[in-house]
Amino acid sequence: MAGTYKSYSLEDFGKDLSGLVQTRRTLPDRLAEHDVLVRVHAVSLNARDLQIASGVYPAPHLPPKGIIPCSDCAGVVEKVGDKVDRVRPGDRIVSHLSYNWVYGEIGNAMQKTALGGGIDGVLAQYAVLNEDGVVHIPDFLPFAEASTLPVAALTSYHCLFGFERTVQPGQAVLIEGTGGCSIAALQLSLFAGARPIVISSSDDKLLRVQQLGVPADDCINYKTIEDWESRVRELTGGRGVDHTIEIGGRSTLPRAVSCTAPGGCVWVIGPVSENEQSNADLAKLILYSQAVVRGVVCGSRLLFEQMIRNNVKNVLTPIVDRRFAFDDAKAAFQCLESGKFFGKIVIDVA
Ligand SMILES: NC(=O)c1ccc[n+]([C@@H]2O[C@H](COP(=O)([O-])OP(=O)(O)OC[C@H]3O[C@@H](n4cnc5c(N)ncnc54)[C@H](OP(=O)(O)O)[C@@H]3O)[C@@H](O)[C@H]2O)c1
Repeated sequence: MAGTYKSYSLEDFGKDLSGLVQTRRTLPDRLAEHDVLVRVHAVSLNARDLQIASGVYPAPHLPPKGIIPCSDCAGVVEKVGDKVDRVRPGDRIVSHLSYNWVYGEIGNAMQKTALGGGIDGVLAQYAVLNEDGVVHIPDFLPFAEASTLPVAALTSYHCLFGFERTVQPGQAVLIEGTGGCSIAALQLSLFAGARPIVISSSDDKLLRVQQLGVPADDCINYKTIEDWESRVRELTGGRGVDHTIEIGGRSTLPRAVSCTAPGGCVWVIGPVSENEQSNADLAKLILYSQAVVRGVVCGSRLLFEQMIRNNVKNVLTPIVDRRFAFDDAKAAFQCLESGKFFGKIVIDVA
């Protein structure tokens, strides 16, 4: 149908994903002054997209019904509004989570304009984005790989390079799991000359971690080694790690704190295991370890541009494990939920 395009929308929120439906939308006749029409080529999924679709997203803001899901896309600018000067038609770009977050730390203020949560996202053949919410990508980077950068990679980059205590050569970094943020953190740690120690539920995934350059001794299966925090301490000569990219929440945070060196940083980015229970006395653990515990949300657009400039090619070679056709987007969400993937899941749009 001329003038229309395929899109997804979240008509309802629930675990069975029945609210995730394909619809058709009409291309805008005119763009607002600072808007950009993007032909979307690839969308990558984050745990956040599943949490929003399932109605369990922990942000202090409820997504409106009918919203277009997902925040991370790569594509080509097709048209621009009258006052746009950051990009031109034909430019290859990726989306940034929130066009309101250009620099610095703005906390939850950006949630209301976060793609696929506060405002319409990008799981569609076209997306209308504010010019402040797009970032150029280098020609060598394929769309599928580029689409994995806006949330997962940027959040890990923010933790390891965005604050005063940046990761240093020789430091130990605890990486929890093998999903999007974790694999980006692993690659960034190796790039910095640090030593990633990785925990995963799967020996097969740990083999893939070894192929990325992590010695077998630094790979721990957290299902078979229940007190993995003791093993992490042992591996670091009793001292503990200098950084943790903390994604687990209740089941991992107390353990991560307890195997952190004095002054080491626990970068808390997510509660992926929120359903699990813990009776740990977190305050005591923080006190005894003398760890610095800091919550980190995604990253500003300027930080994102810095990350892409500092290259992506040999540092972050995004790992796209599973690809789905646009019409099979629901299967992509289900794959994310199953945990049967390594790194990232991408939906090919064009
Ligand atoms: N703060 C932010 O801005 C921000 C940005 C991105 C993500 N997040 C949050 O960070 C978390 C991860 O996001 P993601 O997109 O990277 O997720 P993802 O790609 O879906 O990966 C989730 C990973 O969690 C691991 N995992 C699950 N339970 C675990 C446990 N008990 N211990 C250790 N690892 C466990 C799994 O690793 P194995 O399969 O190897 O066991 C899995 O690979 C989510 O909670 C998400 O909401 C926050």
